[in-house]
Amino acid sequence: MEFKGKTAFITGAAVGIGRAVALQLAKGGANLVLIDLNSEALQKTEEETKGITENVLAYTCDVTDYAAVSDVVEAATKQFGSIDILVNNAALWRDRASFSEADVALWKRYLDVNIMGTVYCTKAVIDRMTDNGYGRIINVASVAGVYGNAKMTHYSATKGAVIALTKALAKEVADKGVTVNAVSPGSVSPADNPDIDFSKPSDLSFTGRTGTDRENADLICFLASDKAGYISGQNIQIDGCRKKM
Ligand SMILES: NC(=O)c1ccc[n+]([C@@H]2O[C@H](COP(=O)([O-])OP(=O)(O)OC[C@H]3O[C@@H](n4cnc5c(N)ncnc54)[C@H](O)[C@@H]3O)[C@@H](O)[C@H]2O)c1
Repeated sequence: MEFKGKTAFITGAAVGIGRAVALQLAKGGANLVLIDLNSEALQKTEEETKGITENVLAYTCDVTDYAAVSDVVEAATKQFGSIDILVNNAALWRDRASFSEADVALWKRYLDVNIMGTVYCTKAVIDRMTDNGYGRIINVASVAGVYGNAKMTHYSATKGAVIALTKALAKEVADKGVTVNAVSPGSVSPADNPDIDFSKPSDLSFTGRTGTDRENADLICFLASDKAGYISGQNIQIDGCRKKM
């Protein structure tokens, strides 16, 4: 897909789906703004993508820090002129605890990163996108936000909120050339595996396997492309035909 002249801001870009999105957008010639908390892994993604596309900026930045996010958006806009694509991918999801076990601190951390992180990054770019008459926002949600996962109430609730935010915001900006969509992965290969085509058997989907980072990135890149201008306010599940919830 062609992304020359477009600038993409990707959160949680160091590993997993975020890294795969960065690699795929780089192949399309996009300018990249990559942010993550994990400096070491982020540097690796920066180096990988710099081998593919010309313009890459990488920042160690916490999505829960609105001032820091705004500074990055300011610097990137100065450098590239605009941010055309926002992929809100950074999130916490690995903690498993029943509702009784999950303490208030855990809940607050999940709400902060998964919901407020998405809100802050979106707030930092949205007015410029509507002023420019162009924007693509893709929020990475989860099937947990649709069905609810036991022992992940703290996670499921945040992803449900991200899906609702997506649908509501899409309606506010549709007439200004900005699309807002969510993608909801099912089970994806472990993020510590650098092979973006890695998949393993899984009984959670009728396809009998986990999804790959590339498959998720391809969907996100399609929604980020000019071809997807008439798709907005959607939550698209990419879950291999989910079996169990
Ligand atoms: N992997 C799965 O099975 C799966 C399933 C459904 C949904 N998802 C969603 O896909 C997205 C990516 O998941 P993944 O498994 O590919 O990656 P991951 O969870 O392994 O990595 C996420 C990245 O986000 C970064 N991050 C976390 N908190 C941050 C913060 N406060 N500020 C900046 N960066 C931060 C981490 O450092 C990490 O590099 C997440 O939104 C996740 O909820 C994943």
